[in-house]
Amino acid sequence: MNLTTDQSKNLPVVQDEIEEQEIEIDENLAIQTINLKKYFGKGYNQVKAVDGINISVKEGEVHGYLGPNGAGKTTSMLMIAGTYRPTSGKGYIFGKPIGTPAANKLIGVAIANPNFWKSMTAYDYLIYMGRLTGMQKTLAKERAKEFLHILEMTKHGFRHPAKFSTGMKAKLAVAQALMHHPRLAVLDESTAGLDPESRFKLVNTIKELAGMLGTSVFVSGHILTEIEKLVSRVTIIVKGKIGLTTTLAEMRKEFSTGEYALECSNAKQVIEDLSSLGVATKIYLDSNDTIIFQSDFIDYVYVQLPEILQRNGSELRRFSPIEVTLEEVFINVISKRYGSEFLYEEELLYEQQIEQGGLLKRVRRG
Ligand SMILES: Nc1ncnc2c1ncn2[C@@H]1O[C@H](COP(=O)(O)OP(=O)(O)OP(=O)(O)O)[C@@H](O)[C@H]1O
Ligand SMILES: [Mg+2]
Repeated sequence: MNLTTDQSKNLPVVQDEIEEQEIEIDENLAIQTINLKKYFGKGYNQVKAVDGINISVKEGEVHGYLGPNGAGKTTSMLMIAGTYRPTSGKGYIFGKPIGTPAANKLIGVAIANPNFWKSMTAYDYLIYMGRLTGMQKTLAKERAKEFLHILEMTKHGFRHPAKFSTGMKAKLAVAQALMHHPRLAVLDESTAGLDPESRFKLVNTIKELAGMLGTSVFVSGHILTEIEKLVSRVTIIVKGKIGLTTTLAEMRKEFSTGEYALECSNAKQVIEDLSSLGVATKIYLDSNDTIIFQSDFIDYVYVQLPEILQRNGSELRRFSPIEVTLEEVFINVISKRYGSEFLYEEELLYEQQIEQGGLLKRVRRG
């Protein structure tokens, strides 16, 4: 923590506090955090789970929150949801301080691995949760039915969610988070453990519902191909700090490799001809017989291409820039900031444990 001097009183002032004061609270932002921190434990055992994050989620957007295991996503979300008290820093939901009834009223939350009361049916659970958000009983009943229907769970409404499959639990958690039509939904790994088809359906339902209700969504997850379909902006958190916030469009531009894919017939001849132009910085045929190339003179290639194709009796199927995926950006941001070995820390740890015989012994015993 940096100490500076408050000129008027000549007293030391904590730098973090100055930063917090300098940022204006924006009531139009669904989420705004200012130097938000959550530390667990003390001294040598202290874990800086969230270490001074500034997040802004705009009204109406679906914003992805990404990071490796243990990065601090759930902890941040629990602070935003008012469940955890921050160690320091500030957070606002549409201008209302997090953890206050005014903020809690605006938000719907589904945190990973929800626990459901054993004695309640799914239908009763939704009514109960709805009433906790201040809904009248009749409206809560109506919405519970409506959301069970939307999520194709009507026939399971009178079963106990504790006995549900992972997929059904996840859907019920999403129903619970959205049924009071909150202005903001915080969804932590809402599709974890679901099979691909169920995930696809749930992602689409979330997207549609958010659009219909005008709900801003802050969503975390590890399946980046899916997050990519859902969100318009992402924030990447690594070891409690923000690594990057960007829109998918900016991300594609910024991290673009400048590579193009050319799919055509007679690709083997075409690649020879294309190489002989002498303008490619990279050129190869991938395993699908697609020509991948990179050039600083792409306009020139565009001009030459029709003739090259004609010369080789080749038919064009596709010629387009290769879009960078969210997964590639994620790996890039993390390895740039922390070294590529960071990504494999868990595996290294696992290998060490195996070397030490711990896991193997456990496996053998099991
Ligand atoms: N209640 C707690 N007490 C102590 N440490 C905690 C607690 N909750 C989380 N942590 C630690 O804080 C760090 C961040 O954890 P968090 O669960 O927020 O990460 P995450 O990004 O959600 O990870 P994952 O992708 O695995 O869900 C981890 O090092 C974790 O061990
Ligand atoms: Mg988590």
